[in-house]
Amino acid sequence: MARILVTRRLPAGGLDPLLDTDHEIVQRDDDTPFTHDELVAAAPDFDAIVCLLTDRIDDGVLAAGALGRLRVVANVAVGYDNVDVAAASRHHIAVCNTPGVLDETTADLAFLLILAASRLASEAEADLRRGRWAGWGINQYLGRDVHGATLGLVGYGRIGRAVARRAAGFEMNVLHHTRHDTGAAGWVDSLDALLAQSDVVSLHVPLNEASRHLIGTRELGLMRSTAVLVNTARGPVIDEEALAAALEDGTIFAAGIDVFEREPEVHPRLLAAPRTVLLPHIGSASQETRARMAQVACEDARAVLEGETPMNLVNPACG
Ligand code: DGY
Repeated sequence: MARILVTRRLPAGGLDPLLDTDHEIVQRDDDTPFTHDELVAAAPDFDAIVCLLTDRIDDGVLAAGALGRLRVVANVAVGYDNVDVAAASRHHIAVCNTPGVLDETTADLAFLLILAASRLASEAEADLRRGRWAGWGINQYLGRDVHGATLGLVGYGRIGRAVARRAAGFEMNVLHHTRHDTGAAGWVDSLDALLAQSDVVSLHVPLNEASRHLIGTRELGLMRSTAVLVNTARGPVIDEEALAAALEDGTIFAAGIDVFEREPEVHPRLLAAPRTVLLPHIGSASQETRARMAQVACEDARAVLEGETPMNLVNPACG
């Protein structure tokens, strides 16, 4: 019998893959997050940790776990920048994530941000709610058309492609940039060229050293003054200070942002920036998708513990 630490309450049905097993599932009654020190202290006593992207699973946690019985960390997210995968591999601990199941839901949210930011929906709604709307005006809240515009996708994995499918319905001209030629129509070999050619830029890259602050002052300066920037990937891909400045001085038209550099903190200049739609990291937040993500992570933890090959192993040498 294995011991599995599940760091937070999961959506209904999320634990299902573990319920018919003999394994012991340990969760806190009150759903308070584990501090880093608590994770380090707990890790050696568990064979598996099912964690969230808000849990920092660094070498401290993994080394402590390896001294005990830890064999697998299953992250309930597709992004795993919160887990030190190199350290996990050194300690022969498997790391699993949840790709695939959240693509369509996250693409829906990216498209929501494309539409809401382009059409200034947040500013217009805020005025209405605060009693500042005095009636229809021909020059009010003039956004940018989404239909027929050029969409530049930075990254062209599953979520980027799902956004591209939605864009087809809006008759958008879809470009994408990746480091290597995808062979698909619309590939642009340089990020700079994509930024310069796009009316809407949507980010779909994982966070790593190459993508940290991929979009800063220089890149924002390459974008059209009419352009809209959308981020549903990871906050640190954008330099938030630079983005706030670009919105303030009209370097770009608008932004739709779901992820932040220092969550749950939001840069105060971004909070105050004009023409900006801000959401609290809800890209995958539908009832169905969050439950499925939890199930996928729990299923993979079970698989590793029972000597099977998990569906989504980030560090294959540890499978
Ligand atoms: C992920 O899975 O990485 C998402 O950010 C969660 O919404």
